[in-house]
Amino acid sequence: MNKATTGNKRYPASEIIKRYRGVGLFITGTGTDIGKTTITAALAAAFRQLGLVVGVCKPINTGCPVRPDHAGGQATGNDDLIASDATILARAAGLTNNLDSLLPVLSPIRYCVPVSPHLAARMERRKPDWRRVAAALEYWQSRCDILLVEGAGGWKVPIDTAAPFAIGDMAAKIGLPVLIVAGCYVGTINHTWLTVQAVRQSRVPIFGIVANRRPATPDFGAMTSTDSLGKVTGVPLLATLPDTPFDDKDGIPSALVQTMLPVARKYWKQAKRPR
Ligand SMILES: Nc1ncnc2c1ncn2[C@@H]1O[C@H](COP(=O)(O)OP(=O)(O)OP(=O)(O)O)[C@@H](O)[C@H]1O
Ligand SMILES: [Mg+2]
Repeated sequence: MNKATTGNKRYPASEIIKRYRGVGLFITGTGTDIGKTTITAALAAAFRQLGLVVGVCKPINTGCPVRPDHAGGQATGNDDLIASDATILARAAGLTNNLDSLLPVLSPIRYCVPVSPHLAARMERRKPDWRRVAAALEYWQSRCDILLVEGAGGWKVPIDTAAPFAIGDMAAKIGLPVLIVAGCYVGTINHTWLTVQAVRQSRVPIFGIVANRRPATPDFGAMTSTDSLGKVTGVPLLATLPDTPFDDKDGIPSALVQTMLPVARKYWKQAKRPR
């Protein structure tokens, strides 16, 4: 495997994170806020409708507010911060019992500042504790039929610039096939194709692309760009999700879950096929 694209061997995560040996998907996106949590949650709910036990994990989450029950003073560790994305994922996966005790395996590394992990780690003077990520993956190994892992930002978001080590390097270590979340706008072809190229360079298999937030009133440029994603990149465009405004506290709209259901069915069918 290409050293330059899989992260420097000296970076601690390279030694600590082990390949996930079960069935799962790593959900990345063409950028931050593109809809990874929403799609991962919709997918989790869809897999549950197929009768599967779903595990979810957001290994690194920045922009996590301090827990209201934190004792005061400066938050100093992962567990002092709210696991923002993982809480949404956990709810969709039906993991609300004992949520508090599950948080370390749902969201092992948390930072408060809403920036790239390498900057958050520097600003908060705390390196990622990779043993927590390894422990989370180990936990899910024997406790779910399918594990959904959400990245942070996009494939090339740095975790450590000196090593160098990025989200894509972490994903390559975990070794799960990738689902790419893209947008529906003029310019999505370039962003999506660049992401596809980067994932391919890391030699990680790509399951497909999901285009998120199709506008209610289709715009010619946005729709033709979105419709071209499969053909241009050579990666199947599996679904296009409509823009469906919702409040996180109400859970993922069922229209989004139903759109992801055929994607879940397709993945489960191919994942269970003997290799
Ligand atoms: N299909 C959709 N319709 C309407 N709103 C959406 C849709 N998908 C995502 N959103 C909204 O867009 C915002 C960003 O989505 P989301 O949190 O899923 O992005 P993300 O890629 O996970 O972001 P991050 O990089 O911070 O993890 C959220 O407020 C979410 O509710
Ligand atoms: Mg997210």
